Formats: sequence, C-alpha cells, structure tokens
Amino acid sequence: MNGRDLVRSVKAVASVGAAQGVRTVRAAWRRRRADATGLPARGAERARVPGPVEDVEPGPGGGVVRFSRSELRILVAVNGAVFWGWDGAGPEPSYALAGRCPEPDPRAVLEPDNWDGAGPEPSYALAGRCPEPDPRAVLEPDKDGGWRVVAERVTVVVSRHGAVEVRTPGGVTLRRDLPPRWWEPVGGGPARWMQRSEVGADARFFGLGGRTSGPRLPDGTYRLWNSDPGRAFTPGDDPLYITMPVQLVVSDGGTHLAFHDSSWDGTVTLHEGEEGAGSGHDRAGTSELRMDGGPLRCWVMVGTPARVLLAWASLTGAPALPPAWALGHHHARWGFGGEQEVRRIVAGYLEHRLPLDAVHLDIDHLDAHQVFTVDQDRFPKLPVLAEELRREGIRLVSIVGPGVKALPGRAVYDSGAAEDAFVRDASGVVVEGVVWPGEVVFPDFTHARVRAWWGALYEERLTQGFSGFWHDMNEPTSFTAFGESTLPRSTRHSLEGRGGDHREAHNVYALCMARAGFEGLRKLAPEERPFLFSRSGWAGMQRYGGTWSGDVATGWPGLRASLALVMGLGLCGVPYSGPDIGGFDGDPSPELYLRWFQLGAYLPLFRTHASLRAGRREPWEFGGDVLEHARVALVERRRLLPYFLTLAHLARRTGAPYVRPLWWAAPEERVLRDCEDAFLLGDSLLVAPVLEPGAVRRAVRLPRGRWYDVATGQAYEGPGQVLVDAPLSRIPVFARAGAVLPVRGEDGGLELDVWAPARGRTGGGLVVPDGGDGWDEPEIERYTARWRGSRVVVERAGEDGGGAPPYPVRVRGTEET
Ligand code: GLC
Repeated sequence: MNGRDLVRSVKAVASVGAAQGVRTVRAAWRRRRADATGLPARGAERARVPGPVEDVEPGPGGGVVRFSRSELRILVAVNGAVFWGWDGAGPEPSYALAGRCPEPDPRAVLEPDNWDGAGPEPSYALAGRCPEPDPRAVLEPDKDGGWRVVAERVTVVVSRHGAVEVRTPGGVTLRRDLPPRWWEPVGGGPARWMQRSEVGADARFFGLGGRTSGPRLPDGTYRLWNSDPGRAFTPGDDPLYITMPVQLVVSDGGTHLAFHDSSWDGTVTLHEGEEGAGSGHDRAGTSELRMDGGPLRCWVMVGTPARVLLAWASLTGAPALPPAWALGHHHARWGFGGEQEVRRIVAGYLEHRLPLDAVHLDIDHLDAHQVFTVDQDRFPKLPVLAEELRREGIRLVSIVGPGVKALPGRAVYDSGAAEDAFVRDASGVVVEGVVWPGEVVFPDFTHARVRAWWGALYEERLTQGFSGFWHDMNEPTSFTAFGESTLPRSTRHSLEGRGGDHREAHNVYALCMARAGFEGLRKLAPEERPFLFSRSGWAGMQRYGGTWSGDVATGWPGLRASLALVMGLGLCGVPYSGPDIGGFDGDPSPELYLRWFQLGAYLPLFRTHASLRAGRREPWEFGGDVLEHARVALVERRRLLPYFLTLAHLARRTGAPYVRPLWWAAPEERVLRDCEDAFLLGDSLLVAPVLEPGAVRRAVRLPRGRWYDVATGQAYEGPGQVLVDAPLSRIPVFARAGAVLPVRGEDGGLELDVWAPARGRTGGGLVVPDGGDGWDEPEIERYTARWRGSRVVVERAGEDGGGAPPYPVRVRGTEET
C-alpha cells in the first residue's frame, strides 16, 4: 500500500463506520491478492497490423477480405447497417444484440422467435435482431488494390492495407477506420488493440454512454469501464455508471453511429477536427479506441439521426415501454425510516394537491440492508401500506442490489449457494465483497440458470406490494479501502458458457442483471409490463428498462450535468432516464430545487431523490412560492402524460428518444450541434430549462420554423436566437407551429392541443392512446392540422379520407397571423 492508498483507506474507514471500514480494508487486500495470482502476468507482447491484402471471398452482404496477417469480414445488412470484424470476428456472441444473428451464409435462416424475454411473446415491432445481409451488396474490386461493397444506403471501401471507409451513397466519407493494431502476449492470451478513426473536420461527437461533460463530447479521453464514483459526482467526473463504446457522430456529410462491440476495459480519445476556412487544409476529427481485449468488430449505421437510431434499436432491441404510471411523478428518499414517514410524505402530497404516482423505498426499508427482505420493525405491514397507496393511485418501487449477504441460514444466500449462483475466483473460492449489508457475494448474471434463479426472487417483492424495481450498485460496486471499488478482475464468469473473467464481464454485469429481473417479472406477472431502471448498464440495456443519473451532486453544475446525461444516453438508445431532482447530497437552495424540478417535469423519469444525510426534497419544504411553482410543473406534467406515453410508444417503435438535442431534425444546422442548454421533447415541444442562478430571462436558440412560447402564445420565427422571459414560476417551453399534441383534459380524458401552422403550411402529430399497462399495442393515430379560411381544421388521417378527431380540440396561435 502506498501513502495515497493509506490516506484513502483511513478516509474510507472514517466515512463508512468502523466495522464496515475494516471490511473494506480486508476486501481491498483480498481483491489485490486474487488478481495477483488469478490474472495472467503481463509479459512481452508482439505488435501486429493486418498487412497487405491477399485475396477475397465474397459472401452475402459482402464477404471476407484476407490480409497477410488477419482477415476482415464485412456485411452490409438490408437496413444499411454495416458490420465489420477482424480476425474472424462475427456479430455473435454479443451482449448488445438482442437476438441471434444470421451467419453470413446463404443457407442460414433467421429464427422466428428469438426475442429473449420469457412468457408470451409481445409483438415488438423492433425485434432486436441482427439484420439480414443485403443480397444485392457484393464485394467488388476498388482502385489501388482495395475492395468495396456498394449498397443502396452506404458504400464501404476497404483499402489494400485494411483501412475501412464508410461513405454515403453520394460519395461523402463519414468515417475512415485506419488499419488496426494488435499487441499479442507472446505467451498467448487476449490481445490489446487500437483503432484510430477519422471523421469530418466539422463533426461533433456524442454518446459513449452517460457522460457528465456532454452531450457534445469535448476533446479528451473517456474510459470504458462502468464505475461508481463513490461520492456525489460533478461534471468532469468520468467514467460514471454507464459506459458504452457507442459514438454518435454528426457532420455536414450525415450522421452515423459506430459501435465497437467489445465489453472490455478501454479508452476512447476524441479530438474534434478543424476546418481550414476553404483553404483545403481541413484537419479531420479523430477517435482513438484502445481496448484491453475482446473482438475487434464494429457496427456502423448512417443516415438521418432518426434513421440511425431506428437501425440501432433494430439491432440492440426496442426500448421497454414503461407502464403509464412510471411516466408520472416519483418521490424517493434514502432514509424514510418507516411506514409512518412514508404516510406523512404521501399525505403531504395529497394535502398540497400535488400529483404523485410512485414512492420509492431505498435500502433502509430492508432488514439490515439485505436484498429481498423487509425490516419488520420499521415496515411491519408493507403489503397493507402498498394497498393503501395503490388506492390513491400511487405505486411502490423497491431498490434491488446484486450483493447477497454472505450468511448461511439466510434464504437468499442459501438458495443461491444451492444453485452455485455466486461468482468464484480463479482458484474456485467464492468471491466476497462489501456493500451495504457488509460482506456479500455476487450472482453471476452471465449464466442463464443464475438469471432464472434471481428472476424468481422478485416474487417476494411482488408479494410485498411493489410494482417497480430500482437496480442499484450493479457496476458492480464493492467498497474497497483502496484500488478499484468493484470485483477482482480475475473473478470467473460463465459468459453464457464460454467462460471468462471479470475483465470481460464487468461492463455487462448490470445489463445481465436487468435481463434477469425483466425476464423474472415477465414470468411472475405476465399481464403487466415490468418497470425496472438500473444505475449501470451497457449497449442494449433499453430492452429491459431505463436508468437514472445516479448520485448527482447538488449544485448548478449538477443540474446541467443531469441534462447532459439524459440527452447522451438517449443517443445511445436508452431513452428513459432522469436525475435525482434537487441533487443527491446536501441542501439545494429553493431556487436550485425549483429549477431542477421544472427541468425534471419534462424528462422521462421525473423523480425527487436524495441521500440519507441530505436535506428535504418535498416541494412544500422550500416556502410558499416554490410550492406553488412546483405544483404548476407537476400539474403540467400530468396534463402532458398522454404526450409522454405517445413518446414512449414511439421510442419503442422507432428507437427515437423522447429527449432529443436541438439538431435532431436539422443536423446540418451547425449552431444547433453546440447547443446544450435546451432540448426537443418529441417532435412538438422545445424545452429551455433555466440552468443558472438568478436568471429570469434566457436566450433560446430556435431551429427553423415558427415556434410559440406556450405560456404567452407569442410566435417566434427560427432559425435564430431569441431572448424570452423565464420567471421563477416557469421555464420557457415552445410548441412547434402545426403541432398536434395529446394532453389530459380536466376530466381525465384525452384532448388535442393544436398550435396553428404558419399560413400556407400544414402540421400534424401522432397520438398513441393508453392501452393499459399490459401488452396491448394501441394503433398510432395520425392527425393533420391545416388552415381552412380563417380557421385551423384538425382531421384524423386515415384510409377513409379522414374525419373529425374523437377528442376535444383546442387550437392556439391563430391570432398571430
Ligand atoms: C446509491 C444510489 C442511491 C441510493 C444509495 C442508497 O448511492 O445511487 O440512489 O440512495 O445508494 O441505497
């Protein structure tokens, strides 16, 4: 242990209590010892590059290009997605892909029912399968000894030395992956590799999972290793709980998404390019990916942002559709302390006429913090409480952590031990870590049998009356006094029977836990859509649910970071998330709390939450003004519920996130790529939160077209920047001219809010009515809005020539023309 480690371990002991502190010191030593003996020593390495091209073997959608020291498999799929893999890597096995991929073999067929859920098959529009090879895409010779595959939506060019270029049909190069380089241990074992890529000089990078510094990712190095920062994080803390080798790149030439499908530890170094002001000396943007192992393979999808996210969702799976109640307001707290406090909080909401849809119980409701138990002293009648709340329309959500208290005689531990569910080290000894309950063991979620065992445990939670699940500490986190706060890297995992260790399993641990929970709930309560959200995850996690910001630090920078996280994750295919409103720690000022609350009201997961020692987070604890303004935000959220539900359905059917950066519909408008303080909520609304103290006005960048300030009705013409009022009572929200939005009327029924199109233009919108919390697939209703004389007429678009909408319609903005 060096001096710094010693200081950290003393601090750790001081902050978590003496007994837990001692455990974390022991755990740190155990971890170090396990890795010293359980991991191959890093010896001499040999560097390798592909070498010159030798021959090719055409196949469906492309084929194999052989180089002297490697080979490259290329497959262009029918939807235009490009796959390439070196050294024989194919699309499978993969934790990101939702179903089995066809081999690039003409005789291989897609299996009809590969959706990996259990129970009755819901008819997911996006099956999450590897797309079929495009039969018309063929490998043909290119100039200078290279090869190319020309498909309808994309051209892939492979140079003689193994650079891979992805071009638009118009011939614009969106991405150029230079020949990779491997470092292979002389004594055998996984090779490290490096891949440098170039993008347009004007390109902007987004994605890489949940990053505080985004959504536009500034130049720098980003680690790919899911991590609990161990304290409330601020912008600049990196990496956090969700990392993904997923880049979304926006440039004049087009948008593309590149996914390097390896779950190993690695880094991505990004550098935006520079334009030479017409001098012809543009400097390309670069991305340099360095991975400790795993296959060197990549998917690239090109097109508009909407088309790219659709292709991504078709590959990795449709985002799970939350039940309608999960789109309402949630109140969480670490440290409710007991049933009486829960009742007091709920009564507060009711008394103050504040809509509330869910209450979350944190680890303090568990018996000595043990998963799937209840502290009977503090919560003697949990099912009764749950029933009482449900009568008020309020659901209970439970925290669930992966660590199981290592104590024989406890039901969860005993059943897991009987299943041989817990991960072991290289010498076969069960690995012990430390989390809230003290010494714990960790299920191996990369094993189907273990997932089935774990999934069945949710029955206890359902019996207690819980309707939703909040997966936590699943990076996985194990407290250590020094070194990384996770499992030893030498920990063995099944990896679906392939066998491997934590170096490969770490980043997909939470994804597999989410799968276990989701599939378990599908079996236990087949009539209802599971509601699950998870702190950690990886590419494909949207199949099982959403996420939240984790422990964002209370402060204005944390408020800004929480928006960056939601936007960035949405672009990685995870549309449902939101922050701890008010921040996780400390005491927000009334103004900060209110501004956070107002932002949260327009994000998919709208949840107040805070740490054990943090100050209050109930809207009535910050004075009369805040209470009144928070009520306005809550009431507006409730009014917008049908719109949120429509966005949730559209996310599931198209992969488009609810919360989108301003450039979503106009990626060619460069100024929009740099705009990080506002967002589009679906097609119809633009939300401009207040992210600074003391502001009562703010500048808002508007994309092309007419926009109405929904509070004042004032119309503005984009593109351009406008200065608008942002009093404490509200944040600026704009509606796109022509928008048709489903909202909840006073009587609870559906109504249409319509904003007049500009004269000479038409508008419209989609509505997906509430089909209940089961698996029904309500039809998408399409409405048009057009001027007829001095009136705006709204009609349902349909094969029979349309008709009047079956809902009351309110048109606004007509007086502006
Ligand atoms: C972690 C979670 C936080 C939770 C706490 C106690 O810090 O991120 O949301 O309140 O654990 O369970």
